[in-house]
Amino acid sequence: MVKISGRGDRQPRARTPRLGCGSVRAVRPPLLLIFPFLLSGLSGCQGERLQSSLHPSSSAAAAIAQLWWVLLVILSLYSLATFALMLVAIFRRPAEDAAPPRDGRLFILLGGVILPAIILVPLLIYSLSTSAALRMPETGLKIRVVGHRWWWEVEYPDHSIVTANEIHIPAGEPVELELAASDVIHSFWTPQLHGKMDMLPGQTTSFWIEADRPGTYRGQCAEFCGVQHAHMAFVVEALPPEEFADWVAEQQEVPDEPGTAALQRGRQAFFRHGCAACHAIRGTSAAGRAGPDLTSMGSRQTIAAATVPNNSENLLAWIADPQAIKPGANMPPTRAADDELRDIVQYLQSLKHERAPE
Ligand code: CUA
Repeated sequence: MVKISGRGDRQPRARTPRLGCGSVRAVRPPLLLIFPFLLSGLSGCQGERLQSSLHPSSSAAAAIAQLWWVLLVILSLYSLATFALMLVAIFRRPAEDAAPPRDGRLFILLGGVILPAIILVPLLIYSLSTSAALRMPETGLKIRVVGHRWWWEVEYPDHSIVTANEIHIPAGEPVELELAASDVIHSFWTPQLHGKMDMLPGQTTSFWIEADRPGTYRGQCAEFCGVQHAHMAFVVEALPPEEFADWVAEQQEVPDEPGTAALQRGRQAFFRHGCAACHAIRGTSAAGRAGPDLTSMGSRQTIAAATVPNNSENLLAWIADPQAIKPGANMPPTRAADDELRDIVQYLQSLKHERAPE
């Protein structure tokens, strides 16, 4: 059972800085007073890894953003008018010699039925037409994404490629996604590319994304799925179509045999310490499916579903004690000597396909 730590039961704080918009810190009381102003800062989740549905990079995300703005403006105006009428009703004092109030039924009919209908019916039609615009178009590429607590399995069934936490797509063309979950309900969300779609255990859901232009788009699990829900992120790498074709060809290659004694020691230690029970590396006997496929681990940008950047220092810390970085994750600590851990890290970092220079 997942244990959620309470106040007196703090998990040890990891020293490794976390990535992305998902980082959450305890909010001190004085900060609560300026909370409404902080809301405007939500749009500040920007920079290299933008995660904002108000900065769309696809036709579907643009339709969603436009609906959001239209609803915000019209319903804000309507709410303001309603609040203003309420204030008038509360604070206006009738004159002593005022005539008795007239029958208010006409006002109720106008303000309570006709006016809302004039506003809400077109909005209903507009939001239904937006839903229609989000239907899946003709797609070429199909990718299967399976949510696990707390990482993303990414498979290209027509190309025999399995990877994790990074989804490479060609820019400028819609891509079909087959979404599923291995344990609990997760939700797939890349705000700049489309809306949210739930991932359900025992069921496959069809979805699609498209990126208008090449770039890196951050995604996040959008359904609470346990203690590390906030650290279940991923990136979509949209590549120009010809670069995407190169990427596919590279991924289909079997990684080189370890070329140095240190790398060979690393591979031996990887098997000796049981890593292959949960992880697969193409071209070796490692075929576990419980954890992420590590065939191209060295070329991943992040570790632990976009929790920390992928570098030797973080990978060493992760392998030695995953719980310090992501408490509750399924991966146990690797009980190996320091030099063995370093060899494993070096071996994993060597698992990459070097891009040919342009
Ligand atoms: Cu997976 Cu939240």
